[in-house]
Amino acid sequence: MRERWDSRSAFILATIGSAIGLGNVWRFPYICFKYGGGAFLIPYFVALFTAGIPLMILEFSLGHKMRAGAPTAFRAAGKRKEWLGWFALLVALSIAIYYAVIMGWCFNYFFYSFNLSWGNSTESFFYNKFLNISESPFEIGTIKPTIMLGLLVCWVAIVGCIWRGPKTVSKVIYITVLLPWVILLIFVIRGLTLPGALQGLTYYLTPNFSALRDFEVWRNAYAQVFFSLSVGFGILIAYSSYLPERSDIVTNAFIISLANCGTSFLAGLAVFSTLGYYSFVQGIPVPDVVKSGPSLAFIVYPTIINLLPFASKIFGALFFLMLITLGIDSAFSLVEAGIAGITDKWGITKRWKINISFAIVAFLIGLFYTTRSGLYWIDIVDHFMSSFGLMIIALTECILLGYMFKLSTLRAHCNLFSEIKIGKWWDIFIKFIIPPILFIMIVCEIIQRIRAPYEGYPRGAEAWGWILLIIFFVTSLILMRTKGKNSLNNNQ
Ligand code: PHE
Repeated sequence: MRERWDSRSAFILATIGSAIGLGNVWRFPYICFKYGGGAFLIPYFVALFTAGIPLMILEFSLGHKMRAGAPTAFRAAGKRKEWLGWFALLVALSIAIYYAVIMGWCFNYFFYSFNLSWGNSTESFFYNKFLNISESPFEIGTIKPTIMLGLLVCWVAIVGCIWRGPKTVSKVIYITVLLPWVILLIFVIRGLTLPGALQGLTYYLTPNFSALRDFEVWRNAYAQVFFSLSVGFGILIAYSSYLPERSDIVTNAFIISLANCGTSFLAGLAVFSTLGYYSFVQGIPVPDVVKSGPSLAFIVYPTIINLLPFASKIFGALFFLMLITLGIDSAFSLVEAGIAGITDKWGITKRWKINISFAIVAFLIGLFYTTRSGLYWIDIVDHFMSSFGLMIIALTECILLGYMFKLSTLRAHCNLFSEIKIGKWWDIFIKFIIPPILFIMIVCEIIQRIRAPYEGYPRGAEAWGWILLIIFFVTSLILMRTKGKNSLNNNQ
């Protein structure tokens, strides 16, 4: 019998845990600020309702109906569709590999915060001392032992969390989802009670409605929704395959996506109020202190922690503990999706063997990112996987299931036990609305990449993004052709 979640709330929390990750803290607030402040919430919610939630329901219903991880689920929908499942899992794996490295940085910084070892020049500490970053992506350099250790700890933690699949995940998510929420609330309160907080929030939320006329704003809203909901990686398919038969898929999708957005918004309050304080103390205008990505977490935040009026070490440790607990369930969801794919195809029952082999391979590949050029490569691979990889998967998913499969069977399936019933409008979204949106986004991205390399990296480095995508595509075709052991496979 297929493994199961302990309860409905375990499934909901596990999926929320996957959706809520570093992106909610270091990406959403920045994008919101940059693309219209409070007005950005309009394209964001439009993107959520027109694309995010319909796609989430699509993946849930596929995984639930076929009771299998992505490759086998797609195969059940049509023999030639299996490759898409593998492609999604390879993209997920490549993300898991660098995500674990970033988590490894967080482990290091967690310990640094005990005596604020980053000192006063946090920027130089991060780039020169901690990463010892090289001049260019091609100057690879040696492995950094401290980062390697962090990476190792992270993989041990990931394997522990998914040891017995949904059984173990059902337990750990009560810590990995609830704890970061509690810490986030502490940071919201801490942030809002600091001088200058209001100034920061004004920048975050003052609506600039004229931004809505800008195409870029809409494009970013859709991109953020896709990345944030963890659609397109096979995760939602694997997770919903562990649900009992009588499950309310549609309501679950609404709860999960709204909880994710709420968390993003809250994270924005915590981040911007604290940035307001930073700007107040340092006398630098707020827009000049706003950063996203690693520099927000590893440069700006450590500086702010130094400046806090009291208990700065405790807040420092809490901040990195929050990032670790936020990230870990996203990281293991990526891994779990892969493992579900493998066990379903080859009917493997000794899960622990796969867990450990998977982690060892991912750890070894991840060592590459612990070298002096690691940050550059993380940046490049992240861009290609989260913009291209994800968009391509979501688009293909809509086409394969919308046009080359009877979509209405999936709709009927999720309506069976759902309180909120979805109507024909859902088919229209999957078939006619989401594909052109994704198509336009992919084309825009290609045009941008032709015009200039991503972030000014050498063309030779950027090329690896394309090469990886091609390798993944070919590998997924090969995997599709290899024989599986699972009865579901042989019956097809
Ligand atoms: N959704 C997560 C975030 O916002 C990131 C993530 C991407 C998680 C892909 C799983 C898979 O950070």
